[in-house]
Amino acid sequence: MVVLPNIKRRLTMQSIEIGSQTKAIRSLDWDRDRFDIEFGLQNGTTYNSFLIQGEKTALIDTSHEKFRQMYLDVLQRLIDPASLDYLIISHTEPDHSGLVKDVLALAPQVTVVGSKVAIQFLENWLHTPFEKRIVKNGDRLDLGAGHVLEFVIAPNLHWPDTIFTYDVLTEILYTCDAFGMHYCDDHTFDEDLYLIEEDYQYYYDCLMGPNARSVLSALKRMGELPAIATIATGHGPLLHYNVTELVERYRRWSQEQAKAETTVAVFYMSDYGFSDRLSQAIAHGITKTGVAVEMMDLRSADPQEVKELVSIASGLVIGTPPISGEIATPAQTALNTILAATNPKQSVGIFESGGKDSESVYPLISKFRDLGTYPAFPPILVKETPTEATYQLCEEAGTDLGQWLSRERSIKQIKAIDNNLEKALGRLSSGLYILTTCHGELRSAMVASWVAQASFKPLGLTVAVAKDRAIESMLHVGDRFVLNILEEGNYQSLMKHFLKRFPPGGDRFEGVRTYLATNGCPILADTLAYMECEVSRRVECGDHWLIYSTVSVGRISKPDASPAVHHRQVGNHY
Ligand code: FEO
Repeated sequence: MVVLPNIKRRLTMQSIEIGSQTKAIRSLDWDRDRFDIEFGLQNGTTYNSFLIQGEKTALIDTSHEKFRQMYLDVLQRLIDPASLDYLIISHTEPDHSGLVKDVLALAPQVTVVGSKVAIQFLENWLHTPFEKRIVKNGDRLDLGAGHVLEFVIAPNLHWPDTIFTYDVLTEILYTCDAFGMHYCDDHTFDEDLYLIEEDYQYYYDCLMGPNARSVLSALKRMGELPAIATIATGHGPLLHYNVTELVERYRRWSQEQAKAETTVAVFYMSDYGFSDRLSQAIAHGITKTGVAVEMMDLRSADPQEVKELVSIASGLVIGTPPISGEIATPAQTALNTILAATNPKQSVGIFESGGKDSESVYPLISKFRDLGTYPAFPPILVKETPTEATYQLCEEAGTDLGQWLSRERSIKQIKAIDNNLEKALGRLSSGLYILTTCHGELRSAMVASWVAQASFKPLGLTVAVAKDRAIESMLHVGDRFVLNILEEGNYQSLMKHFLKRFPPGGDRFEGVRTYLATNGCPILADTLAYMECEVSRRVECGDHWLIYSTVSVGRISKPDASPAVHHRQVGNHY
């Protein structure tokens, strides 16, 4: 194994044999240096590339450009670039293909292998001729010495151009984003499931959940392959010890998504600004409400597919390029196709990325309004590089849309359950609290009632948080919060304030007196007591997350006052 440290930027390289004549070249990025929705857990990430040396040599993917010199040094230490025959592109997002130009400069003889969409994208991007081979599902490439590669077309995991590559000899399936996670450590494989499972699920929820039907199609195609001993992912540890379990989790989660009665179509154009990342944040917010999402990149979508998706969707989210005067023809054509297929029962949300003119998107909004559609959320106009607040706003806008579309189902559920069991459950009483938290520049809060002490050593408590709460994404392992305990007879104004429906991205603390806890979160003045907590475990419990947290600091401000108590009548809603 070769490890090249770079303490200053906390970037390191790892190259290690993972199978016969097969090496992983892993670029370890220990610190998150950007905020994309699926990076929320802050465990860094890795960019994994692979080298297979049969009689011919193939490189699968490259790395992020921030690893340029380190990656090329390791690659050249492992092989003479003049001996490289194939460069297989699993997909063209820059975190994997950021060094394609550099590899081609060192190895101009190489044949680039990819899906039709990937090769087209590279031709537009590179502007220089290169040897290429477009592959379809089931195509094979014989490297000799037993290494026969079979390609699996897996669109939308996570870009439309994605392919998987299966090596018949080593039984390794190379999947790039799929089955990955943003988790950085020296372990090449998934020995400890407990350590990685939260990151694995979070990454699925953000990147793959909005493409659940595509995941199921890919799983079906994977089922036609012989045994899979290892899944060599593009991010995080490779799956070897838990392949069956982790693949089954993808199947289970995707089947749950695909069963949803309501679907939102999220259209974006990945050529424009941050459109794909913003649409992911919106999609993540939607799926938190139990509503399914189908994402479609209009850059490569067939007009018939666009029309079909619009016709089955209850809601539409459209990420447009900057609209100023006449926009580029493909974008305009795609928008016209959507407009022509839209019906008045649909809810529509629009965001624009990369535009400078704040008014430019309104004519498009008017067209959808004239069709009788319901505006799902106020237009989101992103002019600068998105920040944490931008992504949070997008996620909350998605959640608002999902809640709107599932409102009838929620009301039906409340009405449907009214028997003795529900009434008995409603006799469980609890306290009343306001949980406040922060995450970088973001702050959020929620009224909590399902709170209980859970342990003495360490001092710990649990809070149940509904999955469609905006604050849920700020309560992952390692996140900190303050639990503010409300006072009996003196909580109405705080309760009223925090029970309000806030607009996406709205400031929850405007007009509320706060001061800072040692963990950086807001403490509410005018409460009975507070505790500073840190999340150490999350357990999925149906429609809620049970958040187990340790408690480090606590203060009581009114020793003689009593805590507020919450009594309900039935146990099927709050
Ligand atoms: Fe890891 Fe979609 O790139």
